[in-house]
Amino acid sequence: MERTFLMVKPDGVQRGLVGEIISRLEQRGYKLVGLKLLRLTPEQAENHYAEHRDKPFFPGLIAYITSGPVVAMVWEGKRVVTAVREMMGATDPQKALPGTIRGTYAVDIGRNVVHGSDSLATAEREIALFFSPEELISYERALDTWIYE
Ligand code: RTP
Ligand code: MG
Repeated sequence: MERTFLMVKPDGVQRGLVGEIISRLEQRGYKLVGLKLLRLTPEQAENHYAEHRDKPFFPGLIAYITSGPVVAMVWEGKRVVTAVREMMGATDPQKALPGTIRGTYAVDIGRNVVHGSDSLATAEREIALFFSPEELISYERALDTWIYE
């Protein structure tokens, strides 16, 4: 089973989309193993988005992601890293397919509601950035045999 890091960005929290986003993943069958509300410090934000440090949009991205509370989560399941990226839709909501999170709830690239890890290695790095091992809970769900064959 894979684990991935998913974050509802400040616009998603302000717009009341936290429940909707959690619902989509729960209903798909993925398992929530970590969850917290926090406000990123500029240092945390710069660390999280370090790969974009030299891009022209970086200052705006840091201002956006630190502008209010975010909901940080870890989700577990088969192929969950790729599946969450697919469920989020393209980075630019204008290009995101209808039915995806961004294709349903977002218009501008700089207000695209969610973040999700883009690979297994990224997921490991991002999970470690936001959660201590004790904050991630492994547990069995009675429903699992109805989700996995
Ligand atoms: P994220 O990391 O937030 O899940 O988004 P992503 O993988 O789909 O896209 P990425 O290339 O990692 O970009 C990170 C975030 O930076 C903002 N962005 N703005 N103005 C622009 O051209 C631009 N490009 C990226 C977006 O908020 C994007 O989610
Ligand atoms: Mg990214």
